[in-house]
Amino acid sequence: DFQKIKEGAGPGIRIYDPAYQNTAVARSKICEIDGDKGILRYRGYPIEELAEKSNFLEVSYLLIYGELPSKTQYDAWTNQVMRHTFIHTRVQTLMQSFNYDAHPMGMFISSVAAMSTFHPEANPALAGNEIYKKDSRVRNKQILRLMGKVPTVAASCYRHRIGRHFNNPRNDLSYTENFLYMMDYLSEENYKPNPKLAKALDVLFILHADHELNCSTAAMRHIGSSLVDPYSAVAGAASALYGPLHGGANEAVLRMLEEIGSVDNVAPFLEQVKQRKRKLMGFGHRVYKNYDPRAKIIRRIAYEVFDVCGKEPLIEVAIELEKRALSDEFFTSKKLYPNVDFYSGLIYKAMGFPTDFFPVLFAIPRVAGWLAHWVESLEDPDAKIWRPRQVYTGEGKRSYVPLGVRD
Ligand code: ACO
Repeated sequence: DFQKIKEGAGPGIRIYDPAYQNTAVARSKICEIDGDKGILRYRGYPIEELAEKSNFLEVSYLLIYGELPSKTQYDAWTNQVMRHTFIHTRVQTLMQSFNYDAHPMGMFISSVAAMSTFHPEANPALAGNEIYKKDSRVRNKQILRLMGKVPTVAASCYRHRIGRHFNNPRNDLSYTENFLYMMDYLSEENYKPNPKLAKALDVLFILHADHELNCSTAAMRHIGSSLVDPYSAVAGAASALYGPLHGGANEAVLRMLEEIGSVDNVAPFLEQVKQRKRKLMGFGHRVYKNYDPRAKIIRRIAYEVFDVCGKEPLIEVAIELEKRALSDEFFTSKKLYPNVDFYSGLIYKAMGFPTDFFPVLFAIPRVAGWLAHWVESLEDPDAKIWRPRQVYTGEGKRSYVPLGVRD
């Protein structure tokens, strides 16, 4: 299945590796996964420790700049990100043009893509073709804008969806508190975001922030390798995330659990999966062949959220599915375990988020990871435009036959 590459066509051998299952396309220092042992570390720090002790903005700094910030760096970073939370009124006008029943992820992708038109100095054609490679200040400006504005775009998608006015960001609040505030997810007692829910969402954001070269991050690096502006690249990465095999899985899991409906229907549903009529959404992973460490933390958070919002009844269906699948040879022989999306949707549902908004809740924190990989790839001395090769299996040379003569 491989051919020697032609003389002069490039270094190495050409490998036929569908879906890049065994191809390393970059050297990276950002995220380490040991799929057999169920280990995940950001810049060397175990995900469990970051989830317990850190917060999302600190973790974003760690991912993007490589080290945990000093107190001065942390204050400057949070201050600057929170000062970039307002979006242009015409981005809001654009968002108001979407149908109310449009999928929020479609609105999110289009609005982030449109941001490149509001910051024309960020366009490499105007600013200099290699501006992002050469000028870290220009790069950082766009990082602050994207980190700051993405939650506002996301909350505005939701507000538009329910036919309500947009709420301006409040920069005195934390990143996740401000997001819940813009959504209008406020406690009825004091009209502030519930601190326990803000904390739970912050931990979920940490868990979703990066996961090395997953489909959307690979898309970010691929698009970014053409040196396009980061708004266009983030919109492309978000499109990759939208699909049900990737970030759209949290929505798909919830729809599956709703369809199963009760614990009694779990066994017949799993039979359908075993007959390959259905897929068990939220199970399986390209890299993890053991329990996804994020899923363990998410299970714990689910109960913390239920303490505040009331128990989501579908959790019983999820637990029964997991219990049965993990004791069934069909799933264990294929090393299929719950992934990050299996329990996250139940938390979002308990918190009152609409099901089609779940992938947006994944996209907000993943922007930090996409930006980290974007920066790393721009600083990589070996970086080139990504251009995979193919193994051509079509027709050989043939002659054109005009339409009237063709059968
Ligand atoms: N349900 C049933 N069978 C499955 C599942 C599943 N969820 N996942 C994999 N399998 C089976 C496949 O049918 C295949 O069986 P076979 O060898 O008998 O043909 C075997 O397990 C290997 O699966 P692949 O599809 O080859 O694994 P791949 O690495 O290509 O796919 C993926 C990984 C896309 C995550 C897959 O497991 C899947 O579709 N899961 C459901 C969707 C999902 O939860 N996605 C979220 C992933 S996490 C994330 O992106 C944040």
